[in-house]
Amino acid sequence: MSLVSLRNVGKTYQSRLGAAYTAVRGFEMEIEPGEFICLLGTSGCGKTTVLNMLAGFEMPTEGSISIGGAQVQGPGADRGVVFQGDDSLYEWLTALENIEFGLKMRGVAKAERRDRAHRFLELVGLKGQERKHPSELSGGMKQRIQIARVLANEPAMLLMDEPFGALDAQTRSVMQQELLRIWQETRKSVLFITHDIDEAVTLASRIGVMHAGPASKLKGVIPVSISGERNRTSDDFIAIYRQVYGMIREEVALAMQRQG
Ligand SMILES: Nc1ncnc2c1ncn2[C@@H]1O[C@H](COP(=O)(O)OP(=O)(O)O)[C@@H](O)[C@H]1O
Ligand SMILES: [Mg+2]
Repeated sequence: MSLVSLRNVGKTYQSRLGAAYTAVRGFEMEIEPGEFICLLGTSGCGKTTVLNMLAGFEMPTEGSISIGGAQVQGPGADRGVVFQGDDSLYEWLTALENIEFGLKMRGVAKAERRDRAHRFLELVGLKGQERKHPSELSGGMKQRIQIARVLANEPAMLLMDEPFGALDAQTRSVMQQELLRIWQETRKSVLFITHDIDEAVTLASRIGVMHAGPASKLKGVIPVSISGERNRTSDDFIAIYRQVYGMIREEVALAMQRQG
């Protein structure tokens, strides 16, 4: 059975001025356990809308979303969300305490949550940084803490909305490799949103390409079967990049037209 199933999902936003906007319509996707899915699309096409509905932050206005066979009714510990910015960390808590915080809220005993927080801090490569506060850490390190904090709750899957978008190119590349390593070690399912083809080909086991909005849905899904390390200059990598580029090129043009 699929871990996640999105069936005929639609979202129409009602604005306060009365005009409705249908961001997503007829969106269909299945995610298997352990898959790394990148959802790729032009700016404003509805990627965040899809992620927010799966996270339970927004309810679909059409169709249904289930995880582990149960309908998504709201946010839950089975889905860990990693945000783009680093402002979701608590400034007044140390790195370790930030990772522990969710466990504390859920009533996990002190010794156990300390232990788990240390384990995940180490997993994301931050051993030795336990006592630092977010303001003393780089953007990449803060993103690692977010990932550790989410993983410490042992979710069935990670939802990541352009998490490395604010990082410089080198740090982003390091974080992509780190995320792949963490994914291989934990075997969590990941839904990762990006508008960057290169990032999608680097990370995904499947890439879902979205149409330009409004009423966006998947245009197609491209499996990425590159064995071993993904090298941007390899023939395999370039072939998939081309395929994805071919799909998204028209959508970029459409999106630009529609924005006037
Ligand atoms: N709360 C909202 N109310 C009205 N329109 C919204 C709201 N959230 C998003 N939208 C619109 O829905 C479309 C898709 O937005 P979003 O999912 O954020 O796109 P993406 O993440 O692909 O850039 C955009 O046109 C956006 O303006
Ligand atoms: Mg977005």
